Amino acid sequence: MIAVNRSLLVLAAALAWCIVVLPAPSRAAGRDDELPDGDGKKILLASCTNCHDLNEVTKLRGYYTKAQWRDVVKTMVEYGAQLKKGEDEVLVDYLTQHLGKK
Ligand code: HEC
Repeated sequence: MIAVNRSLLVLAAALAWCIVVLPAPSRAAGRDDELPDGDGKKILLASCTNCHDLNEVTKLRGYYTKAQWRDVVKTMVEYGAQLKKGEDEVLVDYLTQHLGKK
C-alpha cells in the first residue's frame, strides 16, 4: 500500500512538472502571432527561421537596443542569413520597434 502511494506521488509530481514546464515552449512558439504584420515580419519569417525558430528571436523581446539588433542581424548574415539589399534596415527597424528595449 505504501509503495503504491509513493508511486502515485511520483506520478503526480511528474504530472505537475509537465503541466508547469511543458506548456512554456508552446506558449513561446505562439508568440509569432503577437508580432504585428509588416514587411519586417515577412523578412523575419522568410530569412530568420531556417536555422532556428522565431522563438530564438522573440525570446529577446525587450533586451536589445537598435544598435544591438543591428549587430544581431549582421551576425546572422555572417552565419548565412539571406537578406536582400535594404532588407536589413527594414528588419532592424521592425525588431527595434516590436522587440526592442523600451
Ligand atoms: C545560417 C543560420 C542562421 C540564420 C539564417 C539565422 N540565424 Fe539567428 N542564430 C543562428 C545560430 C547558430 C544561433 C545561435 C548561436 C548564437 O547565439 O550566436 C542564432 C541565434 C540567434 C539569436 C539569439 C542571439 C542571442 O543573443 O541569444 C537571435 C536574436 C537571432 N539568431 C536572430 C536572427 C535573425 C533576426 C535572423 C534573420 C536575419 C537569423 N537569426 C537568421 C543561426 C542563424
